[in-house]
Amino acid sequence: MQFLREFDDLRHLSFLTNTSYLFTLSKTVFLHSIQKQHKKTMATKTKTTFFCQNCGSQYAKWQGQCTACKEWNTIAEEVVQKAEKVAWKTEEHTPAKRVAKPLKVSQIDTSEEARYKTNDGELDRVLGGGLVPGSLTLLGGEPGIGKSTLLLQISLRLPFKTLYVSGEESQKQIKMRAERISAKTDNCYILTETKTQNIFRQVESIAPDIVIIDSIQTLHSDYIESSPGSISQIRECTTELIKFAKETATPVLLIGHITKDGNIAGPKILEHMVDTVLQFEGDRNHVYRILRSLKNRFGSTAELGIYEMQGSGLREVSNPSEILISKKDEELSGTAIASTMEGMRPLMIEIQALVSTAVYGTPQRSTTGYNAKRMNMLLAVLEKRAGFRLGAKDVFLNVTGGISVDDPAIDLTVVSAILSSNEDIAVPKEFCFAAEVGLAGEIRPVNRVEQRILEAEKLGFSTIFVSKYNKITPKKYQIKVQLVAKVEDVVEYLFG
Ligand code: TYD
Ligand code: MG
Repeated sequence: MQFLREFDDLRHLSFLTNTSYLFTLSKTVFLHSIQKQHKKTMATKTKTTFFCQNCGSQYAKWQGQCTACKEWNTIAEEVVQKAEKVAWKTEEHTPAKRVAKPLKVSQIDTSEEARYKTNDGELDRVLGGGLVPGSLTLLGGEPGIGKSTLLLQISLRLPFKTLYVSGEESQKQIKMRAERISAKTDNCYILTETKTQNIFRQVESIAPDIVIIDSIQTLHSDYIESSPGSISQIRECTTELIKFAKETATPVLLIGHITKDGNIAGPKILEHMVDTVLQFEGDRNHVYRILRSLKNRFGSTAELGIYEMQGSGLREVSNPSEILISKKDEELSGTAIASTMEGMRPLMIEIQALVSTAVYGTPQRSTTGYNAKRMNMLLAVLEKRAGFRLGAKDVFLNVTGGISVDDPAIDLTVVSAILSSNEDIAVPKEFCFAAEVGLAGEIRPVNRVEQRILEAEKLGFSTIFVSKYNKITPKKYQIKVQLVAKVEDVVEYLFG
């Protein structure tokens, strides 16, 4: 009997647990369905977020100052619609699902990493030897500086199949531009489109070797609702392009607008995402344009490319020293020539100074292309160590050719130009300088001095002033190498 009762109890118990189990089960199913429904409504509802237009930080609500970059009034509301995950191709189009595997450095195959030569010596050098397959390169610059011209010119001259996508100009306008730049090959396809999904569709049918986008600010993706040029659009379109570039090993070149304070428009994140950032700069009223690399995952950032804007496109300036030195017959006081280095390339540049008695109580000091603080330091050295009274003088300094230099090796040239103007005695035009000046008035050695001397020799200078402390044998060169130890030595030699 006892046993039976127990059995009954057990049955009862098991019945109970069963129902509670069923109950929990039905509850989970119910909750799940609610969540699903919720997700569905979420997807159709427009969602807005606040982005800092300066640094790209995201906020849930508006605020006056961005807590990340401390800029005021940069936070703006943008519509973001979370859709199914974005891809440059949809899943079923993806040829084969690749799963990344870790490899030892020695096992990584780099044979297919051969770079695409762009047939443009200056651009190739700035890029570090050509375009790397699967890389994203961003070209920034002020409006009208020649970004579109440079990239169109390159795509017209490339031996590979290129797709030039423009969101800014019509095909006819591009054709007109292409006619100015004499085209040698016919491998370039022009597409006027701004929607990324359509661009990828065309890319699939044409299969280009190189893709050029003019400009990233005009692109928009269907997966995001905010307007073209907004932070979230730029970020989304760049992500899609990166995915496309990496999966197909196609190099992509992007043109980016810059803001009035010289940064690439959009979040800094754009610069972080791409592999290379190039800047095209120069004075729009001058013919020379300078191509600099600000970031380069595949090469040095010290290289510089120089172009001349002509009626028929951009011409490479392969020997810049010749254009940066004015060829004048008479000798003028206040100019001196420096042998500097820009990256691996020696460059002769002319420095002009004007020293005059100050009209106002506070003397004016102004520089173009050179650090004003450094000039003030050199003026103090001249005052204290060489006994020149420059405290009551206006001093203006200009690096000719519209370029800016921060090579310390031009210090001695700056000093010579200032003293030459102050004394009104010209520095002989066949003299040049390559040395740094220290706070004690000592002349310090500089790097790559041999290359600097050889460049001066090549361009026909008779004498180059370098520091006594450089480890060189002056007799080796045809040019006269004048070794100096102190500023006074130079003063003595030039004006003594
Ligand atoms: P562009 O490439 O349109 O500048 P960005 O794309 O950077 O805004 O540059 C246009 C300027 O270049 C324009 O002012 C005209 C000038 N230009 C020439 O001087 N020669 C040429 O062969 C071309 C195509 C343009
Ligand atoms: Mg343009």
